[in-house]
Amino acid sequence: MLVKLSLRLITILEMIPSGSVVADVGSDHGKLMIALYEEGIISHGYAIENKPGPYEILKKAIMKAELIDHIVPLFSDGISELPSCVNTVVVAGMGGKHIIDILKSHQSKLANVSTIIVDGHSCLPLIREEITKLGYNIADEKIIKDSGVFYEIIKFVKSDTAMYNESDVEFGPILRQEKSATFKEKYNERIKEIDTLLTKDLPVDVVEKLNKEKERIKGII
Ligand SMILES: C[S@@+](CC[C@H](N)C(=O)[O-])C[C@H]1O[C@@H](n2cnc3c(N)ncnc32)[C@H](O)[C@@H]1O
Repeated sequence: MLVKLSLRLITILEMIPSGSVVADVGSDHGKLMIALYEEGIISHGYAIENKPGPYEILKKAIMKAELIDHIVPLFSDGISELPSCVNTVVVAGMGGKHIIDILKSHQSKLANVSTIIVDGHSCLPLIREEITKLGYNIADEKIIKDSGVFYEIIKFVKSDTAMYNESDVEFGPILRQEKSATFKEKYNERIKEIDTLLTKDLPVDVVEKLNKEKERIKGII
């Protein structure tokens, strides 16, 4: 691979089905799309940006890599102008609510999209709940620690049979079964955080909420 990727972007890249037509929403520097082409995972795709600055950087990066015939830079908002040939959408490196907004505000554009890969930096339970409601189930999940930060990357695949309980939604149906070392590390750190918070003078309802969260975590790890 010529372009250098972070562990987070490598993890996303490895979850993308080979031969798919990918749109990377919020492509920024275009690194993921360029690496996907260089690795032979895709032969063409779309790199979407909605801000002039990042869009110019993106276009320059694609031209520098001499991939303008394979990766089309699109200046547009989210999936509002998603080409109908796209079957895999990536939305990475954004807050969970923003990712959900991007997908929900142009649902008709998802008609041909069989795979959605999401790296949300907040509201992971909401992401699981809302994207499932759009007609997808969770086919894969990865948890990684990159430069000291935990990331959960979720792969959704179109299906009409998604049944998840509260623990699945909160911890991830696959992650909570796998219980990887990174998963345990994340939640052991959260327990320590909660214990520190509980030494402070907090309102009763907050204490109760934190204690309940701690119990749920202990029941899983
Ligand atoms: C923090 S960067 C993440 C870049 C890359 N996806 C990654 O994971 O490393 C978020 C990028 O998404 C773009 N973005 C945010 N909202 C967007 C939207 N609605 N449509 C297209 N791009 C968007 C921003 O301009 C920014 O370049």
